[in-house]
Amino acid sequence: MATTTAASVLAADGVDPSRVPQRILYTGAQMPAIGLGTFGSDHAAGEAVAAAVKDAAMVGYRHFDCAAVYGNEHLIGAALQAVMAEGVGREELWITSKLWNDKHAEADVIPAFRKSLADLRLDYLDLYLIHWPFPNHHAPGVDVTARDHKAQPYIHDNFMKTWRQLEKLVDLGLVRHIGTSNMTIPKLELLLRDARIKPAVNEMELHPHFQQPELFDFVRAHGIEPIGYSPIGSPARPERDRTPEDSVDIEDPVIVRIAERLGVHPAVVCVKWAVQRGQTPIPFSTNRRNYLANLQGVVGEPLTDADMAAIASIDRGCRLIKGQVFLWKPGQDWRDLWDEDGVIKE
Ligand SMILES: NC(=O)c1ccc[n+]([C@@H]2O[C@H](COP(=O)([O-])OP(=O)(O)OC[C@H]3O[C@@H](n4cnc5c(N)ncnc54)[C@H](OP(=O)(O)O)[C@@H]3O)[C@@H](O)[C@H]2O)c1
Repeated sequence: MATTTAASVLAADGVDPSRVPQRILYTGAQMPAIGLGTFGSDHAAGEAVAAAVKDAAMVGYRHFDCAAVYGNEHLIGAALQAVMAEGVGREELWITSKLWNDKHAEADVIPAFRKSLADLRLDYLDLYLIHWPFPNHHAPGVDVTARDHKAQPYIHDNFMKTWRQLEKLVDLGLVRHIGTSNMTIPKLELLLRDARIKPAVNEMELHPHFQQPELFDFVRAHGIEPIGYSPIGSPARPERDRTPEDSVDIEDPVIVRIAERLGVHPAVVCVKWAVQRGQTPIPFSTNRRNYLANLQGVVGEPLTDADMAAIASIDRGCRLIKGQVFLWKPGQDWRDLWDEDGVIKE
């Protein structure tokens, strides 16, 4: 990745991208250690997300986390064109997309990838992920009680057929890295055993109340970079994705106390902690003040060792994105999706 950027395209209050920490992937490629999330869910229209992508690039973001299912890649594609027209080189950008669950069939993978590539108006992607390890389909926005009547558990042979198509995309030069999302240690062990091209990243839920230390350590030990989604604890997620036991990271007294000392929003503390701990957070925002504050936080004064230790101690194992819609038989609990006892459920 080039480290120079046309100074003229950087907003006066922006952050020079060369100051943003980089993760070195096992291929030697550099990935900016913070990206902008682009999942508008029910509360941000695609146009607003695309406008944020364009402006976030102007304040120094170079990494954008996209997905076909977010329904806005065609709008983000136009924003990326505008960014490049301003002088940001394609090689300076890190663009991720993801294969949705209804496109796992061998014949569907490459066409689905090509659709994302065309929508994003690019000729290669930096990273392509299998969004969930389950092929089960549900319409975006459905209630957590919705089920696919053809739903299946994780079937490793089938997952490998999908993975082989991602490997083919690398061979074709259409994508530089491939990876996983929402995986568990037992599933990753099988993939690492059988992959010809191993995953470069695993995208996983990570925030102070959900630190997933075992999975975090496992992926890093295997040269897989953890990308942390919902790094602020997804405070604007829809009501249907909330349960009474969910906790709120940005209201945690430890986070609030550090934020008050630093004079920043608690969200910024979550983002700083994430980068300093070693994951790559992808906070969502369409609010310039907020996405700029998150980027400034990452290049600003680091959290102290005492701050890091205090945040390490507030992990509550509180998973927010539980994945209920992927369950495949009646009477199951969402925990069955996450192999908590080390065994893949059938
Ligand atoms: N792989 C997967 O399965 C998966 C699952 C979920 C999410 N993701 C990815 O992860 C991204 C982020 O996750 P998320 O959207 O669930 O939640 P998040 O990033 O934890 O939280 C986003 C919310 O935080 C607010 N916020 C951001 N920065 C702030 C700041 N400095 N001060 C105050 N508020 C701030 C935003 O509000 P404003 O817009 O008002 O700033 C927004 O409502 C998604 O957009 C998506 O790209 C991936």
